Amino acid sequence: MKRPVLIFLKALTWIACLVPLARLIYGALTPGGLGADPSAHIALTTGYTTLMLLIITLAITPVRRLSRHLSWMIRLRRLLGLFAFFYATLHMLAYVALYSGFDVHAMIADIAKRRFITMGVIAWLLLLPLALTSTTWAIRKLGGKRWNLLHKLIYLAVICGVIHYWWQVKTGVLTPLPFTIVIGILLLARILYALLSNRKSAASQRTSEA
Ligand code: HEM
Repeated sequence: MKRPVLIFLKALTWIACLVPLARLIYGALTPGGLGADPSAHIALTTGYTTLMLLIITLAITPVRRLSRHLSWMIRLRRLLGLFAFFYATLHMLAYVALYSGFDVHAMIADIAKRRFITMGVIAWLLLLPLALTSTTWAIRKLGGKRWNLLHKLIYLAVICGVIHYWWQVKTGVLTPLPFTIVIGILLLARILYALLSNRKSAASQRTSEA
């Protein structure tokens, strides 16, 4: 892909990823712009944005395999993943500032008591090493194989994120279902692809031995 096109696509991704934040800032500066419960509005917006960005990041690998014309998408994956972590951190900070009022003891008690908060924290902690090792320097230092293995944690993080969501909604509310189905399909696609490529390489090994 030509450099100017890549720069254009990256700029578009930056703008799209910053829209939810810009809307929150605009809402905060407008009287009543964040609705009747501003804390909940901020927590929900950042929570949904995190989940959406994690899903888009996960979808890039299977989607780009559909056609070689889509291979450019891989160049946006790191940026999308970092924005997912950015919104997850804003989401957690919203909890720290607006729900717990920076009271560390209350927060620790809450994390221990409410399982949906515990699961949210686990999801964030799983994303942390991915964000910290997202630099080219870290990839070189860890080596491709180890780096790839570490970055599989994104699957675990998104699973914890969606469990956190299920545990947060009232019994009978099914809003997390569409997210769960999409995540399930993406995981299945990954497993099927791994099985097929294992079979292929075993078959080609047999042919070369024969
Ligand atoms: C990858 C990490 C995370 C994801 C994907 C995520 C996602 C979400 C989503 C989608 C919601 C909206 C649920 C609804 O519609 O009712 C939500 C709510 C919430 N999350 Fe998270 N979350 C994450 C991490 C965390 C962490 C680390 C904390 C706090 C330490 C946290 C605290 C909350 C709280 C308090 C709510 C409820 C907001 C309210 O109803 O007023 N989340 N989260």
